[in-house]
Amino acid sequence: MGSEAKLVAGEPPDGYPREAERDVRIGSGEIVHIRPIRPDDAATLTAFHASLSAESIYFRFFNFHAELSEREVRHFTRVDYKDRLALIVLAGDRMVAVGRYDRLSRTDEAEVAFLVRDDYQDQGIGTLLADELARAARSHGIRAFQAETLSHNSAMLEMFRRVGFPIESRYEGSVVRVHFSIEPVPAYLEALARREAVRQVGIGEGTRGSSC
Ligand SMILES: CC(C)(COP(=O)(O)OP(=O)(O)OC[C@H]1O[C@@H](n2cnc3c(N)ncnc32)[C@H](O)[C@@H]1OP(=O)(O)O)[C@@H](O)C(=O)NCCC(=O)NCCS
Repeated sequence: MGSEAKLVAGEPPDGYPREAERDVRIGSGEIVHIRPIRPDDAATLTAFHASLSAESIYFRFFNFHAELSEREVRHFTRVDYKDRLALIVLAGDRMVAVGRYDRLSRTDEAEVAFLVRDDYQDQGIGTLLADELARAARSHGIRAFQAETLSHNSAMLEMFRRVGFPIESRYEGSVVRVHFSIEPVPAYLEALARREAVRQVGIGEGTRGSSC
């Protein structure tokens, strides 16, 4: 991407969308925090990657990518919050998930990818990331998401099917290309409303800034 965000120690970079920060209740009942990634999350992202199983890494990167290089960490933590966005999920101070979109050059479509730490899978976090990424992407003129998934990755394929967007999938050998419009059609809005009812966090229950 062209311009580097201006960085001031302790401050989020220019363009950081504070409105995308929120607390959410997940399937286990635990309250987690979701927010856009920042350049100072480099160590957090590295620790997150080290906490993943080889299988989860393989499903995400299609190879056994035990460590992220410095270049990758820099690329993944520095986004412009418009054409490239990553949202992370924190349980306390530990990162337990990341979802991202990257706009496909000069189109209104973006590639999406998700990675949830093994012990936090199947609690609605991947779906939460999909909902929040879709909301942010729409506000920047992106109209469809696509993703490449291994054809035996039933968790990812099932998650895409259940989100509520109309999914088209094309099998190409061991890989499935999934494509879906992120227009908030009625079926999606109904599914989203059911999910949001479960995600609600009561006053004073939040992970940030609440008095105890
Ligand atoms: C794929 C992945 C992102 C899904 O995230 P998640 O947080 O576990 O998914 P959710 O909890 O939101 O699950 C959504 C739906 O998928 C289904 N699902 C979740 N895990 C499943 C599994 N292992 N097998 C079948 N279905 C599964 C659930 O039934 C759920 O539907 P429900 O809420 O109506 O019951 C996560 O498993 C992961 O990070 N996997 C490793 C990395 C990867 O595969 N990334 C994809 C490459 S883009």
